Amino acid sequence: MSASTGSFSFDRKDLSRFLFDLYDYEPKLLRKLISARPYVCPFEEMERHVPANAKVLDVGCGNGALLAILLASGRISEATGCDVHEGALASARKAAGRTGHSADVSFLRIGSFAELPDDCFDVVTMVDVLHHVAEPERKTAVEEAIKRVGPAGVFLFKDMVEAPFWRRLAHNIDDLIFSGEWVKQVKTAEVEKQVRAAGFELVESLEIPRVFYGNTLRVFRKI
Ligand SMILES: C[S@@+](CC[C@H](N)C(=O)[O-])C[C@H]1O[C@@H](n2cnc3c(N)ncnc32)[C@H](O)[C@@H]1O
Repeated sequence: MSASTGSFSFDRKDLSRFLFDLYDYEPKLLRKLISARPYVCPFEEMERHVPANAKVLDVGCGNGALLAILLASGRISEATGCDVHEGALASARKAAGRTGHSADVSFLRIGSFAELPDDCFDVVTMVDVLHHVAEPERKTAVEEAIKRVGPAGVFLFKDMVEAPFWRRLAHNIDDLIFSGEWVKQVKTAEVEKQVRAAGFELVESLEIPRVFYGNTLRVFRKI
């Protein structure tokens, strides 16, 4: 897979190589960390839920790795990545540009989830964001994200597992090192309850262990 081929296999090694090439403007350590991400974060499991020519909103897009992967795979017709962190957005813009498919992608700095674009999307993603949000604000964050899902659209939610203890601990230590926070794991059952109550069906529920970490993936479709 190269940054501009428009197609790729779903092999983690290929994804890692793709991200390593794409983010060559980042400092060495960050570039290595980004390229290691496919080994711990199941991008390929998310990618398959994004239909061709989708209009995608990535909430808390960070440095834009997921959108870059989706752009390079030719899945996206239009996309918006939102984040609170301008530095991450600058990197995401650059990465998207380097995929050669960035015409219809925009990146937006938001101050709160209420500032997400007032629009409807085929797919709204929230990947490893909610555990960074203060517990009393998590419900609003999910509410604002799912409001942007269009008819029969998909809400793709990925976070870290609550159990077993040692995978949760690995996640806590990782976040302590890289973001200086001792995070509180998301209560996935509460997210499920909230999203279902808003008129979505749960179409896939996966617990995906990777190295020391545990990913919890929920795919909801608007009924
Ligand atoms: C662990 S990173 C994940 C980034 C990206 N989703 C990914 O999987 O590569 C968490 C991201 O959530 C963003 N974030 C945290 N709180 C946020 C908020 N209130 N609104 C939008 N983004 C937020 C952070 O700035 C960071 O980029």
